[in-house]
Amino acid sequence: MNAKSSRARTVKGPSTVLVTGGAGFIGSHACVELLDHGYEVIVVDDYSNGTPQVYARVERVAGRFVGAVYELDIRDRRALSAVFDRHSVDAVVHFAAHKAVGESTRMPVEYYDTNVGGTIALLSVMHAHQVHQLVFSSSCSIYGDAGRGALDEATPARPTNPYAMSKWLCELILTDVCRRCPEFAVLCLRYFNPAGAHPSGLLGEDPRGTPDNLMPYVAQVAIGRRERLSVFGGDYPTPDGTAIRDYLHVVDTVEAHRLALDHLADGPGLRVFNLGAGRGSSVLEVIDAFGDACGRPLPYEVVGRRPGDVAELVADASAIARAWGWRPARDLAAICRDSWRFQQLNPEGYAGSARRPNPKE
Ligand code: UD1
Repeated sequence: MNAKSSRARTVKGPSTVLVTGGAGFIGSHACVELLDHGYEVIVVDDYSNGTPQVYARVERVAGRFVGAVYELDIRDRRALSAVFDRHSVDAVVHFAAHKAVGESTRMPVEYYDTNVGGTIALLSVMHAHQVHQLVFSSSCSIYGDAGRGALDEATPARPTNPYAMSKWLCELILTDVCRRCPEFAVLCLRYFNPAGAHPSGLLGEDPRGTPDNLMPYVAQVAIGRRERLSVFGGDYPTPDGTAIRDYLHVVDTVEAHRLALDHLADGPGLRVFNLGAGRGSSVLEVIDAFGDACGRPLPYEVVGRRPGDVAELVADASAIARAWGWRPARDLAAICRDSWRFQQLNPEGYAGSARRPNPKE
């Protein structure tokens, strides 16, 4: 037994966890968190926005093996069912989804098919196999343009794009299923803006093509892969005119998922929690913080607003703090520092990673 696994805590919640989308940004960090805490981890992923090369790194960081990995599309019920036949799954953490807001406005059918259809397929296979514990990745985007100030979970949903609508539809379906089938226990975590990277520098965000999101784009400017950042909108009603978001370190994000698994057994039904730092940062503040992390000011130009963007989205994350004592431990400076470390160590992302090593070697 290696040092890491001997340190692993006794599992409080379900012991074998299926992670859908486990090769993605948040999913891969979640695998490390679960392995670190003694869970057995099974992954399914179609690699549409992730790569199997990530497992070697997950295992190196955690010092333990992922139990099994399957390349499949979650809409493929037969393939998914075979995974449940093969493994005694206790709970599912469901990350697999399309997540680019802009793309969703151009491809609404694909977004509903994968995000809503995929969740229904997963639920139906889970139900058929008597697995009823689920942690679901939801999004603050369901709040739409809710206005200024920190948003709590009672803020009415007003999704403004197909991505946000797909997450809201999943929440509605899960709410109704939980009302009618008391054996289900579901936790919906509404993410604000997860960002950053594992402090080891081995895991991070490695988007395909041009990054849609701010933090990976800034990181690629810092490393010289892109000339400058386009700041979408300098005329928002915010102190510096740029849009404000609530950036949450990915390690804090996945710690909340592990706590959610620990608490699934508290009782049946559906519970919803915001997952944010409760701190807003403008785009210019992010550029400054990343500049501090990489030691040079980063070039940018202010351009027009991005369609569908809102001025401000900041979480009131007090409900999850009250319920489980979860509070983010890492600030924007840590997010930028870790993101920069990953970018420096992996200037081309995961491309060219080594074979899957034996962590015991
Ligand atoms: C969006 C979703 C969020 C989802 C996330 C993941 C909304 C309101 N939010 O977050 O639910 O989880 O995507 O993909 O739909 N920006 C620039 N230049 C860039 C890129 C971004 O200025 O090159 C700005 C954006 O205009 C925005 C901020 O940076 O103001 C953050 O953008 P981004 O990282 O894309 O996240 P959201 O759009 O907030």
